[in-house]
Amino acid sequence: MTHLPASTSSQGKTDRSQPALVTPEVLIAPPARPTWIAAAPHARGSDDKAETTLRISSFCSWYGAFQALHEIELAVPKRRVTAFIGPSGCGKSTLLRWINRMNDLVPSARAQGTLDLHGEDLLSRSIDVVDLRRRVGMVFQKPNPFPKSIYDNVAFGPRLHFRMRRGDLDGLVEQSLRQAALWDEVKDRLKDSALGLSGGQQQRLCIARAIAVGPEVLLMDEPCSALDPKSTARIEELIADLRERYTIIIVTHNMQQAARVSDVTAFFFEGRLIEDGLTEHIFTNPTNKQTDEYISGRFG
Ligand SMILES: Nc1ncnc2c1ncn2[C@@H]1O[C@H](COP(=O)(O)OP(=O)(O)OP(=O)(O)O)[C@@H](O)[C@H]1O
Ligand SMILES: [Mg+2]
Repeated sequence: MTHLPASTSSQGKTDRSQPALVTPEVLIAPPARPTWIAAAPHARGSDDKAETTLRISSFCSWYGAFQALHEIELAVPKRRVTAFIGPSGCGKSTLLRWINRMNDLVPSARAQGTLDLHGEDLLSRSIDVVDLRRRVGMVFQKPNPFPKSIYDNVAFGPRLHFRMRRGDLDGLVEQSLRQAALWDEVKDRLKDSALGLSGGQQQRLCIARAIAVGPEVLLMDEPCSALDPKSTARIEELIADLRERYTIIIVTHNMQQAARVSDVTAFFFEGRLIEDGLTEHIFTNPTNKQTDEYISGRFG
């Protein structure tokens, strides 16, 4: 079945005219940790036990007549970090953008196949795109805070999606900033403009903004490429913390970063998924010659 992009307006099932009253506890609940995660906090090597959050099947994508992605098959494991790697132009961002329907904004883009999030096809015309983007948050290469206060950046999503008491909203903003490891740096300047923060702080603010609406999946497209090494290290530490609660997909050109932060790696080349598996395996003993050449820096 071919899915043409639907309009970006809300079309869907969720009635947001009467949002439910929610509390921060509902949105940022303690992670319901499966026992095997408790037993193996870093979980590498245990992926046979991971549940699948997102199943990508027979997925193809085009821009006009140009086919950018070919027959992608990939299971994205729950509460793990999956790294998308591959040379420029291989389709990493295209796939990420389909997962939260950002490609709806590109008139020439179309796709076919399925992106199954717990039995729901994300490409379906009936899906509520606004609600999807709450459940599947996205962090971009260049930090993009709104030209608003630090507080209002984080409160933006909850105000859009939920009805909350003022005190609860304050609590949610604090919890989100704490989870994004930014609270201590901004707690005395919440009413200041977000644009006055450093690039690394802005990126953590964007992560706090994504977290504040209680997403299940976080997509990060080269989130550190505009940051200095110290800010990059902060974001990498943050990703290590966040993976206990969220399913994360990160696109990166930095092989050391992919090896450091991810549990699973998927290598793309010219629009095809060449190989995926445990990061440890992909980086030490890849099955495919192209993967080996790419991770050892011989091309790309
Ligand atoms: N809006 C668009 N219109 C037409 N073609 C596009 C568009 N966006 C991407 N493409 C093409 O689709 C292919 C995949 O692009 P994509 O941005 O997904 O690659 P990428 O792997 O993210 O690359 P990079 O590592 O440079 O970010 C490329 O050939 C690109 O030129
Ligand atoms: Mg890209």
